[in-house]
Amino acid sequence: MHISLFLASLQLDRDDRTPLFRQLYASIKQAILSGALPAGRQLPPSREFCLRLAISRQTVLNAYELLLAEGYLSGTVGKGTYVNVDLPKPPSRPSTLSMRHTKPMAPALSRRGNLLVEFARSPPWAQDKTRAFRVSMPGLDAFPFDVWSRLVARRWRRHEDRLGYGDPAGYGRLRELLAVYLRSSRGVICNPAQIIITSGSQQALYLLSTVLLDPGDSAWVESPGYRGTFASLHAAQAKVCYVPVDQNGLDVAYAKRHYPNAKLAAVTPSHHLPLGMTMSLQRRLDLLAWAKAHSAWVIEDDYDSEYRYSGAPLASLQSLDQNDCVAYVGTMSKVLFPGLRLGYMVLPQALVAPITQAKAIVDRQTAIMPQMVLADFIAEGHFGRHIKRTRKLYGERQAALLHAIDAHLSAFLSYENTEGGLDLAVHFTKPRSEQEIVKAGLAAGLELRPLSYYLPTEAKEKSTHFLPGLLLGFSSLSEQEIHESSLKLRDVFRSKRS
Ligand SMILES: Cc1ncc(COP(=O)(O)O)c(C=O)c1O
Repeated sequence: MHISLFLASLQLDRDDRTPLFRQLYASIKQAILSGALPAGRQLPPSREFCLRLAISRQTVLNAYELLLAEGYLSGTVGKGTYVNVDLPKPPSRPSTLSMRHTKPMAPALSRRGNLLVEFARSPPWAQDKTRAFRVSMPGLDAFPFDVWSRLVARRWRRHEDRLGYGDPAGYGRLRELLAVYLRSSRGVICNPAQIIITSGSQQALYLLSTVLLDPGDSAWVESPGYRGTFASLHAAQAKVCYVPVDQNGLDVAYAKRHYPNAKLAAVTPSHHLPLGMTMSLQRRLDLLAWAKAHSAWVIEDDYDSEYRYSGAPLASLQSLDQNDCVAYVGTMSKVLFPGLRLGYMVLPQALVAPITQAKAIVDRQTAIMPQMVLADFIAEGHFGRHIKRTRKLYGERQAALLHAIDAHLSAFLSYENTEGGLDLAVHFTKPRSEQEIVKAGLAAGLELRPLSYYLPTEAKEKSTHFLPGLLLGFSSLSEQEIHESSLKLRDVFRSKRS
């Protein structure tokens, strides 16, 4: 491109927040990369830019300086500035016309990359305001933000000497406090050295999958089950074995029959996601006996066991493990809030060093400040009080939802497992399309999660036992919202009566 044409094509946006010199820098760089300004071409003197674009000379000098520093230009400002001749040739590009008609080429990803993308396709986050019946969302109206911000401010004032790189396993004081908490509340047998703090339980699932499995190794998962687990196992290139669940949890006999040589089983024994039942003692013992006989690992995802409203409290599966094969995974996403991104694992001794090293490769360590604040929150009793308060509150919210279903929705919906959790699985009393209900719900302002979301496509054919329905979140909604939204949901069903 002739330099005068290039100058004429330049446009800077004064309303844009990006400084003018950055805009100029980006335009020149783009012209060089695209080949519009070829290697060796002399750039106009800075005053031409000033005149043409009505900008100050300093703006041009700042842009040139960056381009010189990054190697796009050579020479010295004032004595002639040139497009660097040593730059690699820009790739030949299709004409704008043909580009308009061709689809962007899919990037050549690795097999693992493709598997990752496949499972990340439906983003599990919702960006708009929380509304009925969003799943897995704690009630932030009950969170003591005043206490939390006081603790944050105090920590910033007295950060001691902890802002450099730290132990990849996490903040020592937090691990000590968690060990005490887990021993007393969940019967987890552990010492602080077995605990690794992670960026949410998702990171724990990812690390365990990639460190414990070779590509092609089989892993049992619950079907339906948690997509975060499926995705982590796929990312590790494991053969994901979808095992049906019933009222007693994962069908261990089925799994042994079909996939006897699996290397790992991932379960939610305290509270199955999404159906909500608890794994029976017999199944727990069967699972552990299989793991022992096959030298397999078990991941216990104990994501929301703090919230149990009725029935006997059950100790963790890890507390029954006599063979050091259970990796216990927990999270602050339900008891505090998901955006905090704090979770933890309690590992068998033999896994502590390798998983700590793997964690260091992924992100060196989880951010220290939230860990320190959480440690204070626990040490000063706020954590215990918050769990107690929210257990009562969510119990009331669940009761409000059950009442609303009994009173207004029993012709359309049934439910079974109400012992705990932040969500309630409901089934249709008559055959219906989940997608139709979800769509009509959306039009009525409701956020409805179909149960089939938890059933991967590969498992659909085999899942003759699967009953369609919805997972309704209640923990983040006031009783009033639950009541009003249940009436809206009734109208949705009425409008789809046929
Ligand atoms: C089964 C299960 N495990 C773990 C989590 C929490 O994940 P994270 O700690 O990464 O937020 C969830 C959240 O919905 C879940 O449903």
